[in-house]
Amino acid sequence: MNDKDYEDFISTVSHELRTPLTSIRGFSQTMLASWDKLDDESKKKFLKIIVEQSNRLINLVENMLSVTKLQNTKENLIYKEVQVKPAVEMITSIVKNQYKDKKFNIEISEKLPPVLADKDKFQQIMTNLTENAAKYSDENSEITVKAHLKQDMVSISVINKGIEIPEKDYEKIFTKFSRIDNPLTRKVQGSGLGLYITKNLVEKMCGTISVKSENNETTFEVNLPAANIERQAREKCSQ
Ligand SMILES: Nc1ncnc2c1ncn2[C@@H]1O[C@H](COP(=O)(O)OP(=O)(O)OP(=O)(O)O)[C@@H](O)[C@H]1O
Ligand SMILES: [Mg+2]
Repeated sequence: MNDKDYEDFISTVSHELRTPLTSIRGFSQTMLASWDKLDDESKKKFLKIIVEQSNRLINLVENMLSVTKLQNTKENLIYKEVQVKPAVEMITSIVKNQYKDKKFNIEISEKLPPVLADKDKFQQIMTNLTENAAKYSDENSEITVKAHLKQDMVSISVINKGIEIPEKDYEKIFTKFSRIDNPLTRKVQGSGLGLYITKNLVEKMCGTISVKSENNETTFEVNLPAANIERQAREKCSQ
């Protein structure tokens, strides 16, 4: 990292840390100072904000740790056959819990071969993309996760409806701390690290990631090497 990048990094991080900390402090102070005057409903509301802001801090710290680990090339990935459908089902149900207005469609065949990937990292990739799809989409809209075999790669797409990402920003969104200024992004919190981490992880696992955004629809496509292609082929023959 050069000096300018380092300064940018520090100022962004300080800002990202200060905002939630200020609101956690503010709401706790108010509750302490006015405990007897506040009704239960207000107390509950304040506590909810404190929990939300703490989650935001945890998420930020986790993202920053991931970035540091990415730079440490010694980190070893453990490659295994990972089944896509159960992982996607688990992740979408967790995200759905947080974004209750969204509807998730999963279009993945039982016959899809597994990917050859590090299970934790694969889950991190899918969580980042699914969370983004839920965060940056229209209210009450549908999110689709589908996957198919494309030669020797498993291609997974996460599709959502909402404000498009302009083509000139297709590359930028995968860089550190980049967020696009639009009403949907302004409404939600984020550090701009998710896609940077995601791209790094995908590429470490010999995959590719790309984005396409048009007609109010955004698709993130991840391609990862399919595992046991030969076994699948043999099974097909013997059927
Ligand atoms: N599915 C999407 N639809 C529209 N815009 C998106 C989508 N995913 C990401 N973006 C845009 O790209 C930006 C970068 O995304 P990224 O996941 O890297 O960061 P973030 O979501 O802002 O923060 P973080 O993931 O670190 O909490 C977002 O701020 C948003 O503007
Ligand atoms: Mg994100």
